[in-house]
Amino acid sequence: MAFRSLAVALSVIGSLQVANAALTKRVQCPDGIHTATNAACCPLFDVLEDVQQNLFDGGECGEEAHESLRLVFHDAISISNAAGNVGGADGSIVVFDTIETNYHANLGTDEIVQKQKPIIARHNISAGDFVQFAGAVAVSNCPGAPQIPFFLGRPPPVSQAPDGLVPEPFDSVDKILARFADAGPVGFTPVEVVWSLVSHTVAAADLVDPTIPGSPFDSTPGTFDSQFFVETQLKGTLFPGTSGNQGEAESPLAGEMRLQSDHDLARDSRTACEWQSFVNNPTKLRNRFSDVVLKLSLLGHDQSTLTDCSEIIPVPQTINVPATFPAGLTIADVEQACVGTAFPSLATDPGPVTSVPPVAGS
Ligand code: HEM
Ligand SMILES: *[C@@H]1O[C@H](CO)[C@@H](O)[C@H](O)[C@H]1NC(C)=O
Repeated sequence: MAFRSLAVALSVIGSLQVANAALTKRVQCPDGIHTATNAACCPLFDVLEDVQQNLFDGGECGEEAHESLRLVFHDAISISNAAGNVGGADGSIVVFDTIETNYHANLGTDEIVQKQKPIIARHNISAGDFVQFAGAVAVSNCPGAPQIPFFLGRPPPVSQAPDGLVPEPFDSVDKILARFADAGPVGFTPVEVVWSLVSHTVAAADLVDPTIPGSPFDSTPGTFDSQFFVETQLKGTLFPGTSGNQGEAESPLAGEMRLQSDHDLARDSRTACEWQSFVNNPTKLRNRFSDVVLKLSLLGHDQSTLTDCSEIIPVPQTINVPATFPAGLTIADVEQACVGTAFPSLATDPGPVTSVPPVAGS
């Protein structure tokens, strides 16, 4: 019986594949295993396997995946319209790492750069392509995430990026919005800045407060959900053991890190409503993040010169878990900032108030 329905299911899948193949002509890759819509994408199957096995511990949304996503941003955003739009997503943070990873905003990125370098050396791929590819694969390992598009063909970087282009957690909202607006010929709007910060749902900090390394930005750093947008909107407390360093704000949960910049963006009239709009809205969360990471990944490049290899990026696992208030907290703990739209009503996690554990490997 079970055997029989499996056979039926397989024959359905089989006919779907035949239908697909009829629509899109695929080429056989030289490895004899894979096919691709564009032969230029074939070498990426090997890179994918290497990255998953040797960088992401078999496909985890852990420390290395988080750091690889952070690297996507730090490499890409280092471009300035005011300075002629050179650089961007060019891999300069890897090729000129001895310079760029020493910039204050990039501290800590040397670790992931050192882990990525030997993998880049094993393949015929530019550093700029690799940083964006590894970031898209990293995101795909996080349950609930979108499949980030990936375009191939970035040339090697011409020079190191100048210092001062990567936002800091102690920067004002004015300064952060101005920096994003200046990145690339069109720049990023305040709403797009909020989209980019969906990234902090799979993130932790090691160096903002070195006494508590691995402190996550929300209670679920291994899941691509909207808890980050709930928890950044809650009242903060100064928990014992936190240093109150520059860039570190009071947080709602022991063990959780709240960046000053995230606190301020959640409460600024230009960004607060977009911030709140992500709470319990997984479809919007996925779609907007996918759009904005693609835009970051194309900074410094003409998309028409690159090859669409998005099909190589794994399809992430889906989740269906509604956002909640952490145990002990309710709507009364929300610092409402969006004028005009009420904060969504959420259930409170059952159980005792707990602290958030650090991300392993930090
Ligand atoms: C206003 C803009 C931003 C600021 C000020 C900011 C700041 C920071 C800081 C201070 C950390 C902690 C670093 C440490 O102490 O280890 C961090 C972590 C992280 N950031 Fe951002 N960030 C911004 C935007 C972004 C964007 C646009 C992305 C990606 C698209 C991103 C991805 C990440 C990730 C994934 C981590 C976690 C790294 C890890 O867990 O090891 N950030 N960010
Ligand atoms: C390396 O990749 C480039 C395209 O980026 C290609 O033109 C070249 O033939 C490749 N070299 C080898 C040895 O595969």
